[in-house]
Amino acid sequence: MIVLPTDRSFEEASCLLRKGDLIGLPTETVYGLAANATQDLAVARIFEQKKRPIFNPLIIHGPSKEAFKNHVSWNETSDILADAFWPGPLTLVLPRLTSSSVSLLASAGLDSLAVRVPHHPIALTLLKKVEIPLAAPSANPSGKVSPTQANHVEEDFPDLFILDGGDTSVGLESTILDLTTSLPRLLRPGGLSLEAIQAIIGPIDTTPQKLIKAPGMMTSHYAPTLPLRLNADEPLEGEAYLAFGPTSCKGNHILNLSERSNLTEAAANLFKMLRFLDQPDFQRISVASIPFQGLGLALNDRLYRAAAPREL
Ligand code: TXA
Ligand code: MG
Repeated sequence: MIVLPTDRSFEEASCLLRKGDLIGLPTETVYGLAANATQDLAVARIFEQKKRPIFNPLIIHGPSKEAFKNHVSWNETSDILADAFWPGPLTLVLPRLTSSSVSLLASAGLDSLAVRVPHHPIALTLLKKVEIPLAAPSANPSGKVSPTQANHVEEDFPDLFILDGGDTSVGLESTILDLTTSLPRLLRPGGLSLEAIQAIIGPIDTTPQKLIKAPGMMTSHYAPTLPLRLNADEPLEGEAYLAFGPTSCKGNHILNLSERSNLTEAAANLFKMLRFLDQPDFQRISVASIPFQGLGLALNDRLYRAAAPREL
C-alpha cells in the first residue's frame, strides 16, 4: 500500500516499526525496506522478505550523528566526514560498541557497524519520530535492481506499507567507506563521489577487496532479468538501448540516461530506466559507455555488476 506522508501515516509507520513490522521508506538514494534495528525478529524479517543471505550486513539509519553515539566508536576522520556530508549518501563503517543495542543479525555478527543519516525529509522526520535506529537495505529482492519510486517497491512487496516520497533524487545507493582500517577504504562507490570525499580527507584505498566485506560487492548484483551488453555505440537487432549523451539512435526501445551527458542526471535515471527496458519484448539491453569520473564510478560499478554472469 502506497501512502502519502501525513501526520497520520507517520504515526502508523512508527507503530508498525515499533511492533517489529517492515515499511517501505524513501531516502535520497533508493527506497529502503526498513525495520527496527534493535529487534532481532524485525531484522530477520528483512532477510526473509528480501531472500538476502544472512552474511550480508545491513546499514543502520539514524536522524543525526549523535543518534549513533551509543552504537559505534567515532574517530577524527568519521567526525569530519559526518560533519561534511551528513545528511547525505555516505555510509560509514565504524567499530561497533559492545554496548550497542543493534541486533547482531543486522551487522551479520561483524565487529563493525555501517551507519548513515539519509538526506530525505520523510526519512528524517520518521527517524526523529520513532527514536529507534532503522536497519534498511534497498527495498528489492536480493540481487535485483534497487527501487527509485514507491511503485517499484510495491511491485516486489505488494502487502508492504510504503511511504511515498516520489522519485529519489540521487538514484544510486550510498557510497560506503570503511573507517576501521588506518587508511579509509572504499567498499562501494555510490551517490557521493570519491573526489568529494578525497578533497576533505585525502587518500582512500580503492583497491578491490579480496574478502567480500560488502556483498553489494558480489560480482553479479543489481541485475535486471535481461542480459546486458556494455559500451555499446548503438543497439543491435532485438536489443533495447540505454544511451548517454547525444545520440542519433531513435525509437521506442531507446532511453537516454542524460542527453546532456550529465552524470548526476544519469545516476538518478539509471535504475528506473533499466527497469523500464527490462521487458520480454527484448532479448538484451545494450548500454552506452559512461566516463569513470565523479558519479560515473558508481554508475559503471552498477552496470558491470548488472552485466556480470549470474551467480545464483
Ligand atoms: O543508499 C543506501 O545505502 C540504501 C538506502 C536504503 O539507505 N541502502 C542500501 O542497503 O543500499 P543495502 O543493504 O542494499 O546495501 C548495504 C551494503 C551491503 O553491501 C553490505 O554488505 C554493506 O552495506 N555493509 C553493511 N554493514 C557493513 C559492515 N559492517 N561492513 C561492511 N559492509 C557493510
Ligand atoms: Mg541493495
